[in-house]
Amino acid sequence: MEENKKEGRYSRIYKQLSDLVLKSNNSTARMATIIAVLHHKLDYFFWTGFYLIEDGEMTVNMYQGPVACQILEKDKGVCWAAFNQKKTFVVEDVHSFPNHIACDSRSNSEIVVPFKNKSGEIIGVLDVDSSERASFSEVDAKWLEKILELVYV
Ligand code: SME
Repeated sequence: MEENKKEGRYSRIYKQLSDLVLKSNNSTARMATIIAVLHHKLDYFFWTGFYLIEDGEMTVNMYQGPVACQILEKDKGVCWAAFNQKKTFVVEDVHSFPNHIACDSRSNSEIVVPFKNKSGEIIGVLDVDSSERASFSEVDAKWLEKILELVYV
């Protein structure tokens, strides 16, 4: 998607989500709604979901898309890299990412954004896969980081 079209789309999504999250103070409700809206409004989102650390394991949480890996092998792949390095990863071609974990062979590019709790600790990640190469850019990174902040507004 063109960058200016993405900007417009994200800005409308952000407005819609800001209104929706205020209807409940429950973080699970907010996370689920964020995933649903993103997955259905952005057609290049092939898999959209959270992985959270549970008892030290990077464990799949709510998501939309094909069935995903339940637990990601420690310190392998993009989700662990984003979690360990505390920064967003935009991966144009997952096949060239060292130790990439392929839950679905149709995924070709990916973005992973660290997810913080109310106290600001990183407790997991938001992961989005696309079946096209190079689907994600700094525009996705900027907006997804901003959208995640809505969980604890
Ligand atoms: N590709 C991710 C694993 C999760 S799936 O894409 C849903 C990774 O390398 O961490």
